[in-house]
Amino acid sequence: MLSVIYVSVADPGLTPADIAAMVAQAQANNARDGLTGALIYNGQNFMQLLEGPVARVEACLARIRADLRHNGVIEIRRRLVEEREFSAFSMLYSPLFREHDAGLSRLAARGQLDPQDEQMMANFLALGHRGPGG
Ligand SMILES: Cc1cc2nc3c(=O)[nH]c(=O)nc-3n(C[C@H](O)[C@H](O)[C@H](O)COP(=O)(O)O)c2cc1C
Repeated sequence: MLSVIYVSVADPGLTPADIAAMVAQAQANNARDGLTGALIYNGQNFMQLLEGPVARVEACLARIRADLRHNGVIEIRRRLVEEREFSAFSMLYSPLFREHDAGLSRLAARGQLDPQDEQMMANFLALGHRGPGG
């Protein structure tokens, strides 16, 4: 299986309703396609981990890269894995940053997260907590 993490720049015009619709679409598609993962949104950037069969992940990433709701998609980690980290989640997401943080923390505590993946997500979350300008 393939696991990919990318970061991107969100369209600044996105509303909470837009985000909710996008997450619902991603969860429905991923359940259909056998993909799992996690999405973090800090109001400006997305970080997403997507995992599953190689061809399915590649096809999904091709759609995601072409999506006008964000731009500047940069992959920061890509590797073949034996097991999924987010097997219980078609796309783990919480609009409330702190809850999401807790969700990741629970997975990390159970030893389900690869240390480097965990570090990347923790760093991204920390940037969001600092907020614009500070
Ligand atoms: C940040 C971000 C993350 C996304 N994540 C997923 C995803 O995990 N799975 C997915 O199918 N689509 C995801 N999408 C949506 C895709 O870009 C695309 O719109 C969608 O797959 C097309 O689905 P449709 O054929 O049902 O219209 C994401 C879009 C954005 C902007």
